[in-house]
Amino acid sequence: MGIKILRDKGYEVDVNPKDKMLGQKQLINFLKKKPYDVVLTLLTDKIDRKIFEAAPSVRMFANYASGFDNIDVAEAKKLGIVVTNAPALSTCVAVAEHTIAMIIAMYTRINEGDRYVRKGKYKGWSAMNLIGSNFSGKTLGLIGAGRIGERVAFYAKNLGMKIVYTDVKPSEQINNEYNATFFPTPEEVLRYADVVSLHVPLLPTTKHLIDERRLKIMKPTSFLVNTSRGPVIDEKALEKALKNKVIAGAALDVFEFEPKVTRGLLKLENTILTPHIASASMEARIEMVQVATSNIIDFLEGRIPNNSL
Ligand code: GLV
Repeated sequence: MGIKILRDKGYEVDVNPKDKMLGQKQLINFLKKKPYDVVLTLLTDKIDRKIFEAAPSVRMFANYASGFDNIDVAEAKKLGIVVTNAPALSTCVAVAEHTIAMIIAMYTRINEGDRYVRKGKYKGWSAMNLIGSNFSGKTLGLIGAGRIGERVAFYAKNLGMKIVYTDVKPSEQINNEYNATFFPTPEEVLRYADVVSLHVPLLPTTKHLIDERRLKIMKPTSFLVNTSRGPVIDEKALEKALKNKVIAGAALDVFEFEPKVTRGLLKLENTILTPHIASASMEARIEMVQVATSNIIDFLEGRIPNNSL
């Protein structure tokens, strides 16, 4: 759809023919084919000085993602290269819905139950088999309450959960609309919440935000959910915490070294693991194409793109 819009406008568009991640060498080889003006990147493309130097004609990198931790934006700015991301309302909705699905699945043990039946373990009803817990009445702790975190709060409140959150500053709107309590530090959220959900961008300050020390602050009955970026959690520390029952479970859509997953996590029953698909709703993907395409057209037609970073 984006390709057609650009071609209809008379722009020449080359596409990576394989729907597969390109390594740095392959990316450089591809970019050396022609003096491209603009490159549309995916969150799996690591764009840094090496790429800027290998493709000096490129004056804009348009990221097809809300996050942009894959691009060295500071370095691009120094070189006068424009970088845009593609934030979309439908993406916030998709990620928030996936987060809520993970919370519900953790409390109701749906994934464990599914595996149990498939393995032929279901031999008869018993009152306490795979006993779960009601999520209604529980406290959800949000670390990061931007657009996605706020949407999660909206759903959670309507499911009967209480909301506590931390961010750089409190939001009156979140406090009022969701009867939420703001805490200035993650520690307080970790202490009070029954389920903690992460909604921060990946920055040097948020790398390993959830480490061994902070995991120990959480309740032994609590769950951790991550639909943000993998390196926000120290995955080794999480594996240890789950094995030692420091916390009750974790639902992860993103991984510290993705697409690799820490092996120990794969063997644990108290984890739900999905392959970075929280934003993968058709509505989100279509809106992201529209946003990224209009950023590119704005740039090529001499306007400042809406989502310039
Ligand atoms: C997905 O992870 C995105 O940043 O859009």
